[in-house]
Amino acid sequence: MAEFGNLIKILKAAGEVTRLRLLALLAAGELSVKDLTDILDQSQPRVSRHLKLLSEAGLVTRNAEGAWVFYRLVDAGETGKLLHSFLGQLEDRDEVIAADRSALAKILDANQKQADAYFAKVAQSWDDLRKLHVAESAVETAILRMLGTQKVNRLLDFGTGTGRMLELLKDIYSFGVGIDSSPEMIAVARAKMSAAKISHAQIKLGDISGVEVAEPEANLLILHQVLHYFSDPGRILIEAQRQLVTGGRILVVDFAPHDLEFLREHNAHQRLGLSEKNMAAWATAAGLHLEKFESYANENQADGLVVCLWLFTKTQEGKIS
Ligand SMILES: C[S@@+](CC[C@H](N)C(=O)[O-])C[C@H]1O[C@@H](n2cnc3c(N)ncnc32)[C@H](O)[C@@H]1O
Repeated sequence: MAEFGNLIKILKAAGEVTRLRLLALLAAGELSVKDLTDILDQSQPRVSRHLKLLSEAGLVTRNAEGAWVFYRLVDAGETGKLLHSFLGQLEDRDEVIAADRSALAKILDANQKQADAYFAKVAQSWDDLRKLHVAESAVETAILRMLGTQKVNRLLDFGTGTGRMLELLKDIYSFGVGIDSSPEMIAVARAKMSAAKISHAQIKLGDISGVEVAEPEANLLILHQVLHYFSDPGRILIEAQRQLVTGGRILVVDFAPHDLEFLREHNAHQRLGLSEKNMAAWATAAGLHLEKFESYANENQADGLVVCLWLFTKTQEGKIS
């Protein structure tokens, strides 16, 4: 049961056309003001004003990252329950809602195309490029230590790229599957697997934001330098946990928050690193428990990027199935 005052506050904030459209869009996942402005086709100050009101009423949370600001629906507590319940009443066929969802699909598709075009261009040189910002050998040593030597039956590498993780971890899995949406990257990965005579791993073309899962069977899933390509990394974590058996583990390796805005324009990054706070919220929503966390600075690089490792265990099903 909702408390009277809280209900009035929520209804007042949501009871306006643009704000209800914003809430309906955010029900699909975390989005930046830039994407929301493009979808609604309204001025950025106007959209920001509505988002500010929603934030003040406690319906959405705000997360500033460099020049971009991301918003997500509050999903916990009484407010989360109320939002979930009344947004669930929106008619999919409603003209405004349907048009907004189709504009959102186009924006997500354009973001994905930007990443695909970038990786098509850099596929051949990726193994050299990845060393630019990262203390690679220190991070790889940490990955091996964190995962331990106990063999896992099935390993999934989401956004496998040139297959480096499948190569590094070849001795700890019985069967490995690498999935990537870039045909150019997987061509390099396949050549690498065959040169390294790794026959117990398979490379597949696919989109990790919607991989079909009949029966969860992965014991270990790797997301190595992948989550920052998505505006809503939390959604990918939920997709990842759907692939895992209960007790299975997810290793996320990604940048700590930084302010290198050019990585958005030139390298297709959506998020300027991942904060521990955001990761904790996304993991909770995905039913993941944090087991270990470590971070590594690259002292040889001027850009000061820090790489973090998060090891999670699946304890229960995530909220979105
Ligand atoms: C920075 S690379 C990392 C590759 C590899 N994990 C590594 O660390 O070398 C990110 C990879 O994610 C892939 N990727 C981006 N969006 C994807 C999607 N929706 N589905 C599958 N792979 C995706 C890209 O094609 C790229 O190969």
